[in-house]
Amino acid sequence: MKPIKTQWNKQQAIKSIVLFLVYFALLALLSFFLLVGTRLNSLSVVMRENGSRYLYALCCLFLLVAITYVYFFFENRGILMSGKNTALLFCVLGLQIGVSFGVGQMNIYMRPVALVSLLTLMLLGRREAAFMTVIAALAMFVLDNASGADAYTQKEIYASLLIAFSSGIVSIFACACAKTRFRIILVGFIILIPVLFIIALLELTLFVSPEALQGTLPTAEYIFIQMGYGVIGGISSTVLFLAILPIFEWMFNCLTVYRLRELTSHDSRLLRKLRTEAPGTFNHSVSVAQLAESCAAALGENADFARAAAYYHDVGKLHQPEYFTENQGDYNLHDELTPELSADIIRSHAHDGYELIRSHHLPQLFADVALQHHGTLPIRYFYAKALKMTDGELNIEDFSYSGPKPQTRIAAIIMIADAAEASVRALPNRTQETVEEAVRKIIEERMELEQFSECAITMQDLALIRRTLVDTLTGVYHRRVSYPGLRYKKGKDGKTEGENE
Ligand SMILES: [Fe+2]
Ligand SMILES: [Fe+2]
Repeated sequence: MKPIKTQWNKQQAIKSIVLFLVYFALLALLSFFLLVGTRLNSLSVVMRENGSRYLYALCCLFLLVAITYVYFFFENRGILMSGKNTALLFCVLGLQIGVSFGVGQMNIYMRPVALVSLLTLMLLGRREAAFMTVIAALAMFVLDNASGADAYTQKEIYASLLIAFSSGIVSIFACACAKTRFRIILVGFIILIPVLFIIALLELTLFVSPEALQGTLPTAEYIFIQMGYGVIGGISSTVLFLAILPIFEWMFNCLTVYRLRELTSHDSRLLRKLRTEAPGTFNHSVSVAQLAESCAAALGENADFARAAAYYHDVGKLHQPEYFTENQGDYNLHDELTPELSADIIRSHAHDGYELIRSHHLPQLFADVALQHHGTLPIRYFYAKALKMTDGELNIEDFSYSGPKPQTRIAAIIMIADAAEASVRALPNRTQETVEEAVRKIIEERMELEQFSECAITMQDLALIRRTLVDTLTGVYHRRVSYPGLRYKKGKDGKTEGENE
């Protein structure tokens, strides 16, 4: 996901600092309960014995939180500006600390070390995930040290730090190829490589340590058992991730690649309705989705999101599907209506789509695309029909969509892909030249009518969209050889034979 570029002012800076301080206080409270909760002595005794160590750990945690703020201030200020994203960041960190501490009571190697990396990767992005992997590993290192030597040995604490860091980073890169939830389980096995290597290496170093001279060496069985705990830790990272991710998706309304794919399943509620009640619109939407996905990928935008948003761009047509060409048979209902009334019906599908998407609790970004995908363009067919029927002046706005114009590059891509698909489908002769000419006209018309004035799309982007659309559309509507007519008959020996018609 690309960093969000937004205006940063003093008020937002203060709000983000206050939020970070509040979340730090909650994190410190959680850490304190985890440290004290594992002690059997009374609170006053625990504090007398370990107070200074806990205070040191608290200061280290504060330092880590401060470093996190500085990192996001320079790297992705959008995280700091969004209360939702800040909450998400601390929830993931708190969860990792809580679960690791709890599981660590059984065995330090059993911790689901890559959980924070996988969750941050899916919910925020790769750079954010790499950074939070380091912060979470260091936070656990601080807390492990604060737990005291009676909880873990120094060797185990250092091993845990190395495992958390290396398996987290490995999981981030391994996940790049995991496009389905099932493949994430395979990532769990890749995580095991650094986990097992580090455990084996650190246990084997004992053979050259002072313990070796005293004859207190770990047995092969002990090393294998520790590696077994490491296997549980690695696999449980992905299992827990898959179990928890839907909760985070729901709590923070995040559009992960998995949620987007589920939303574009042809069996999802609204798409199923579109497929049965407006099959023409459904087929058009599937084609637009394919075009939008290719264009978004070419522009470095989120292709999965573009594809999903395109699926829903015309759901507003569900209110009166029979009034839209792609769902009509031989009879056109608009023949009975005035051009003004027809334009009203056509125009309303953008707003109806917005309302329908909202009422189905689908992402706001889908609703925005549905509302913006025709911008403020005139409804050409009915405007031209009205012009033919009147001698007087016509207000073009009465025959135009109400807008707003596309506000994002993805909305602009879907606007162009939508028109290109419909226009090329209507071409009687689809060659490279006619397709290129149709797409060029569509982009030029929208530029002339200033439809891209409210989104950050450049001339270079538009040229790339045009090339991608032409390539994809000529691929979709490729030329096929016409099959010669052939008649079959039984030959004299009973065998089937063919002859030209
Ligand atoms: Fe539309
Ligand atoms: Fe459309």
